[in-house]
Amino acid sequence: MHADAPDDGPAALTVSEGIHRFGSIRFDEFIDVALYGPDGFYSSGGGAGRAGGDFVTSPEVGPLFGAVVARWLDAVWERVGRPDEFVVVEAAAGRGALALAVLAAEPRCAPALRYVMVERSAALRARQAEHLALAQPFEVLGPTVDDDEVGGAAAPPVAGPLVVSLPDLPVQSVVGAVIANELLDNVAFRLLERAADHWDEVRVAADVDGGLVELFVPADTAVAALADELVPEPPPGGRIPIQTAASDWLRRAVDLVERGSVLVIDYAVDATAELAERPVGEWVRTYASHESGGGPLDAVGRQDVTVEVALDQLTAVAAPSVTDTQSDWLRRWGIDELVDEGRRIWDERAGAGDLAAIRARSRIVEADALCDPTGLGAFRVVEWHRP
Ligand SMILES: C[S@@+](CC[C@H](N)C(=O)[O-])C[C@H]1O[C@@H](n2cnc3c(N)ncnc32)[C@H](O)[C@@H]1O
Repeated sequence: MHADAPDDGPAALTVSEGIHRFGSIRFDEFIDVALYGPDGFYSSGGGAGRAGGDFVTSPEVGPLFGAVVARWLDAVWERVGRPDEFVVVEAAAGRGALALAVLAAEPRCAPALRYVMVERSAALRARQAEHLALAQPFEVLGPTVDDDEVGGAAAPPVAGPLVVSLPDLPVQSVVGAVIANELLDNVAFRLLERAADHWDEVRVAADVDGGLVELFVPADTAVAALADELVPEPPPGGRIPIQTAASDWLRRAVDLVERGSVLVIDYAVDATAELAERPVGEWVRTYASHESGGGPLDAVGRQDVTVEVALDQLTAVAAPSVTDTQSDWLRRWGIDELVDEGRRIWDERAGAGDLAAIRARSRIVEADALCDPTGLGAFRVVEWHRP
């Protein structure tokens, strides 16, 4: 049940099986099962999307976001010396909306591009093949072509783009980029609450009627010490997330990139201490069918549970090279130029009213949503450059 326990592995049991077996489970274990367990929200195919989805993310607003990401990828490709094989690992690829948009933008790096979609949910992985032609992982992540001689000469790399789908990050290092849009808000976190003179850890248990309730136990020494470091002056009753699994993911992502960049985009705050001052219901949010859901212990498996990402916990793993808001980052990478181009195309083709004209016009609406300072535009973008 415990995320570190090799016997069961994460999310091996349902919530009630876990509570039945262990009496109570830690909050991060609860989240992991509620989202990714046998009856979990993502295991049952929940996810992002405008029609039939549960919430809208930047890639689901339309193809403009991916077109800007494609420009950023080209810049990374140039920076690492335009290699013949450029691996882009997209973690939390969902049903493949961002991959589709990046490919549709026809980036300059396309002939070198090996696009690896990493998605934990098998139900969402199954949907990726509906719109994308997938290669086999060994074709993209196998031995390099230099080892493979054809008629005495090294075989040229297969022309990209090649796209593959995996359930977890690849293990071998890559020259390229790791990108993750709205992954870390969906990664399980521990939950602590400040009592008068110590930290309690919130666990999940069942009451006599079988409903789920919170159970408080004194936090172990290591996590209490981390909480003290993150929040030196905690308000009584203040709650904080401990995002160890998100930090562990970032460590793996940074280690994966031999040369290139890691890009994380999410809703986030600078410091865990800010969250301690705010009601937990503000920073742990639930969604189902485009509506806010109930408390995180309600409707298990039928609602998404997300958390604001505390950047101080992430940047403790590795110092970032760039931090920005989504709206400023999109502007830096040319969203205004793409919108102007869309306007020109619309002016020329409005009479024809064809798909190209309609797509061009829709860039204006998409840009407004992506840069909205009270919504997606306020998301945080963090880059780590390697070396
Ligand atoms: C909020 S959705 C975002 C999907 C997509 N990136 C988007 O912006 O539309 C979060 C996704 O992360 C996936 N996920 C969670 N943990 C993961 C992990 N460790 N590796 C890959 N995908 C993961 C979930 O299954 C879910 O599809």
